[in-house]
Amino acid sequence: MKIINEIGKMKVYSRIMRKDSKSIGFVPTMGYLHDGHVSLIKNARKQNDMVILSIFVNPIQFAPSEDYEKYPRDAARDEEIARKEGVDVIFYPNKEDMYPKGYSTYVEVENLTDNLCGLSRPGHFKGVTTVVMKLFEITKPDIAYFGQKDAQQAIVIKKMVSDLNMDITTKVLPTVREPDGLAMSSRNECLNKKEKENAIVLYQALKKAEVLFSDGERNSKKIIDSMRDLINAKDTAKIDYIKVVDLDTVKDITQIKDKALIALAVFIGKTRLIDNIIVGVGNEQS
Ligand code: PAJ
Repeated sequence: MKIINEIGKMKVYSRIMRKDSKSIGFVPTMGYLHDGHVSLIKNARKQNDMVILSIFVNPIQFAPSEDYEKYPRDAARDEEIARKEGVDVIFYPNKEDMYPKGYSTYVEVENLTDNLCGLSRPGHFKGVTTVVMKLFEITKPDIAYFGQKDAQQAIVIKKMVSDLNMDITTKVLPTVREPDGLAMSSRNECLNKKEKENAIVLYQALKKAEVLFSDGERNSKKIIDSMRDLINAKDTAKIDYIKVVDLDTVKDITQIKDKALIALAVFIGKTRLIDNIIVGVGNEQS
């Protein structure tokens, strides 16, 4: 397994691979790898000749008040996991090379970023799409892999790829969960024992929504209210948002017709966690 820090070297490596007609699968991450990331890597490994994993805690997708400095990092552990999963290259750029002094170009997807995390974290998706665009340009993948856990991110990136006519296939894979249902996340590391127990309520609330939906409930407010009651019963939980939205437009839906994305963001103590499910026919994104 190669570890490449320099942007120029990564570009040369990818160019050689493509000249050799080797297909490249790319998994962009911010590191502190868990089984959610591993599921993306395993799929990339199965479907491509080469697998590139990027690890970069992207400063421009964090607001000044957010947890950029505190975001968990462990390069040695990440390298061990990547090696075990058969990753060919870890691309580890540094922030000074990604955003040199005077950096001034950003990619912004409109409309789809007005709701959910885009509403709670202004500028977040501008940071995500900019870094993903740069990483795509540097690694030149055939297929890039994303997780359903960050549903809005996946929708926004797919839109960027389509609007900019990029020659990349994006695949969105299901959310990997702990046995108790908690969605795997690098940020789970920031939870203490009691918070980790309380954090299960995100999944319980989504499960409750799923049961209501399968019992015939289509009114978003009723679904949201019952999720809210469940979450508010936990003393460390503070709701950022709970929403029922259209999967294509990310706009709020008041009455569900066939399918919908039910998404939530909840602070457990100081840690902000997100999760979601899709209810209705053919309920997966790909
Ligand atoms: P990060 O949070 O490290 O996630 C990297 C990828 O792993 C994302 O596509 C995310 O959706 C996926 N992922 C995270 N948790 C998952 C889980 N429990 N199950 C399945 N997939 C999961 O998302 C980012 O980094 C960044 O915003 C990035 C795209 C790298 C841009 O900086």
